[in-house]
Amino acid sequence: MRPSPDPAGIDALDLLDPELHATHDLTPVWRWLRAHDPVRRHERFWSVTRHADVLRVVRDPETFSSLRGNMLRTLLRGHDPGAGKMLVVTDGPRHARLRRLLTPGFGPRTLGTVTRSIEEATRDLLGALVRRGGGDFVAEVAAQVPLRAICELLGVPEADRQRVLELTGEAMLGETPAAERAGRTPPTAMIAQSEILLYYTRLAARRRTAPGDDVISLLVGSDLTEEEVLLNCYNLIIGGDETARLAMAGGLLALATYDKEWARLREDPALVDPAVEEILRWTTPAAHVGRVATRDAQLAGRRVAAGDAVALWTVSANRDEAVFDDPDRFDVGRTPNRHLTFGHGPHFCLGAQLARAELRALLAELRASVSAITVTGPVTWLPSNFVNGVGTLPVALA
Ligand code: HEM
Repeated sequence: MRPSPDPAGIDALDLLDPELHATHDLTPVWRWLRAHDPVRRHERFWSVTRHADVLRVVRDPETFSSLRGNMLRTLLRGHDPGAGKMLVVTDGPRHARLRRLLTPGFGPRTLGTVTRSIEEATRDLLGALVRRGGGDFVAEVAAQVPLRAICELLGVPEADRQRVLELTGEAMLGETPAAERAGRTPPTAMIAQSEILLYYTRLAARRRTAPGDDVISLLVGSDLTEEEVLLNCYNLIIGGDETARLAMAGGLLALATYDKEWARLREDPALVDPAVEEILRWTTPAAHVGRVATRDAQLAGRRVAAGDAVALWTVSANRDEAVFDDPDRFDVGRTPNRHLTFGHGPHFCLGAQLARAELRALLAELRASVSAITVTGPVTWLPSNFVNGVGTLPVALA
């Protein structure tokens, strides 16, 4: 259990500090902000913590734009390298066009194939962990499944999978909280990033002449430039890898911690779907989404000026007592569950159904082959103000 800071000392808390998020449970701080200062001015940005205000902002992209970035890290730097080209950091008609282009890649046919592959991978990886009696669930299961799903989605041929998985894992080290903290990308990650971009450039060239029914074929079949094709592949990798990993690992941790909820879920298969939603609410792997005001706006009585950066703390909105009964209780039967884990509005997560399929496969496999989940060692939390969750989760599964 991480300690919680006393909200009375809120003026001294730096919500940008990655370590604060790793070492503290900020639940009481968010509760205090929702009650007393729901749209709070910090030196360089605003914090929005209520569910209703988060919704107001994400529903109004003309006033609150994604073009300068969608997380504090890029917003405070002043630019995002993918701005105007990568789905999540585009706005308006350009965003709508890109989204229309990518959406069929997440349709029922592709999802059916990807889901089968997720189920198979989950069964194999979890089975191996159970046979060994336990291990680090993050490294051995949660880090593997989402990357495999993305390879499937992008149409990476079977023969290239292993190499691509390794390279992507190394490349992602440049996106980790440790790199965020150090303010630089480790050289090995930079090399892997170049190699992976080169790989996707070649794959895209192959798909131009021999298209398949994968996302890369959709992208190269359009009038996007090569750079735009690559950036949007990259969007899927960074959008769908770590987030899904954190939801899976945080979900397992919640079931280990609240064993009565795990017992309920084991007994009643009808609880799988609500449990997936509750895990998504409880874990909130993207702690905030960010926007920049394009013009002056009023928000909960505060005047946000044009050019101001705004952090929408979904991690707080998902515990808003105005929307959720007993919000600090993990309840696998919670319905309705209007969590904002996938955002809302035009940028609502394109991979939401895929992430749900990953969690559903995990719960189904746990129900089928595990009766007791025990945390066996120290759990570490990631030092980041953006990705929210555990970096290691040693468990015994019996
Ligand atoms: C957008 C969270 C899984 C791809 C988003 C947004 C959030 C989010 C909060 C909205 C960003 C914004 O409003 O600025 C999550 C979480 C996931 C997850 C918590 C797992 C539990 C995935 C997966 C994929 C994916 C598996 C694909 C492989 C995307 C894309 C967008 C997006 C492409 C941009 C959509 C747009 O701008 O129209 N995600 N995501 N995500 N996500 Fe996810």
